[in-house]
Amino acid sequence: MGTFYSRIRSRAGPSVSAAAQSGSHIIAPVLTNNTITGDVHFLHNAHGFTFDRPHSETTQTSATRSLIFKHKTRICTEYQYVTEYNSLPGERVLLSERYTQPLILQRHRDQKEREEELRSSGEDFQQVLSSRSGDESSHLNSLFNPDGHGISPSSVILQGNSGNGKTLSVQKIMMDWASDKLYKERFAIVFHLKCKEINRIPGIMSLVEVLSYSCSLTSDEISQILQQSPEKMLFIIDGFDELRLTQDIYDMSPHTDGIQKAPAEVTLCALLRGHILPESFLLVATRSTATDTLSKLLKGPQRFTEIMGFSEKGVEEYFQKFFQDEELFKRAYTFVKTNENLFTTCSIPVICWIICTTIKERFRVGADVTSVLETTTSIYVDFVSTLLKHHCQGLSQSVPNLLRSLGQLAERGMLEQQVLLDEKTVYETISDPVANPFLCKFLFKRRICQETMFSFMHLSFQEFLTALLQCAFVLVLVHRDFICALQCSCHVKYWDLFCPYS
Ligand SMILES: Nc1ncnc2c1ncn2[C@@H]1O[C@H](COP(=O)(O)OP(=O)(O)O)[C@@H](O)[C@H]1O
Ligand SMILES: [Mg+2]
Repeated sequence: MGTFYSRIRSRAGPSVSAAAQSGSHIIAPVLTNNTITGDVHFLHNAHGFTFDRPHSETTQTSATRSLIFKHKTRICTEYQYVTEYNSLPGERVLLSERYTQPLILQRHRDQKEREEELRSSGEDFQQVLSSRSGDESSHLNSLFNPDGHGISPSSVILQGNSGNGKTLSVQKIMMDWASDKLYKERFAIVFHLKCKEINRIPGIMSLVEVLSYSCSLTSDEISQILQQSPEKMLFIIDGFDELRLTQDIYDMSPHTDGIQKAPAEVTLCALLRGHILPESFLLVATRSTATDTLSKLLKGPQRFTEIMGFSEKGVEEYFQKFFQDEELFKRAYTFVKTNENLFTTCSIPVICWIICTTIKERFRVGADVTSVLETTTSIYVDFVSTLLKHHCQGLSQSVPNLLRSLGQLAERGMLEQQVLLDEKTVYETISDPVANPFLCKFLFKRRICQETMFSFMHLSFQEFLTALLQCAFVLVLVHRDFICALQCSCHVKYWDLFCPYS
């Protein structure tokens, strides 16, 4: 047996060490009546000596260290690439060559600010975005930073509209953590859970088993890792809005350890509520339509953050990364900047991708770039079909019904000159607004209570959906692409969509 050795090191003051021979105990006298600041390290090399919960990474056994190393290596291999929506088998892009820092805000906006964001376009829109961010914009590395009172959040909500980059940002956090570039000291282990996958897990599962679905480690290996200090653990949950919540999550008796079994969504909710591993940290990405439900479940202290998409600088950087050729970048970016509507939509990352992909294809075949991109309409056509194909799960309506009811809601707002729509109007028109990937939901303070309102992602999108409904006949002539895109991706027949109006 070796010695048990304890060292207390303060950032400002000198290191204090105490050592004891094997078999003996140590009660460090310097701890009594002292306020300790800085890092406290407990090191032990006594064979067979274990803490229930080791207090830092330095106490990880070499077996656990090698498991974490295996987990990190696997993440680096898997997460280093982005598979694009149109990638052929084997085709992919390096995350580091594509990821562009989005704008992340850490505060709620009031009704006036939201209206301004929804209505403005072009340069004005970019100005509104930059006025929102000022010096308050966050980076992925500051999500868990202490607030002005020195308190760090246990849970961070990362809200964002469909296609605004929540999933890609989660991928970037995982990749950077696994390559020791982010949260290296802060989190010894990070797990990533996708709600889409959790929906597919059958039967009852413990947290350990749910986690083993999402990574390359076995349940036994995960159990071993979960013995580590929970305050060094981060769980990232992506797509909370897609999680199919059952009544069980409210009815089940509290579930307090990682090996107790329950339906997967109940187990996940026990983690979110802090019933399991209460000292661990959570980062949960969701669309705004599920933020209030999430906030009611999530343990505190909570922090709210929102991905706003790309700033003007972000759009430029994205184009540069996408084209990787100064000449092509300049031609594409200059063209987009001169079109106010297109430039506004570029703040939505998925639309940036659609625009760049379309322009690149036009360059490749030597065609005129302006012809397909003259209006934002053709871009929204691709946007709608991309969201329907890749960002929709378990819609309770058929796609034609969904588009028709969205058109009716959009039209109603246009007639009343409203971009923020009250809850009653929305529920009269849309059967399940919370699951609708095209709507955003806001809670506004009204003196002593709150009011819920909905909107489309931007006024231009509301106009597009109105036009889609009103101009059925014109659309069939002018926007054949839209009909084609819908037919290919969602099996929608044009006449199904406009049946009641034809
Ligand atoms: N930060 C980013 N940098 C580069 N491209 C991005 C970024 N965020 C999103 N994208 C593009 O937008 C697409 C949709 O993003 P995604 O993360 O899936 O959105 P969300 O999860 O919010 O619905 C991605 O596939 C990618 O092409
Ligand atoms: Mg996503």
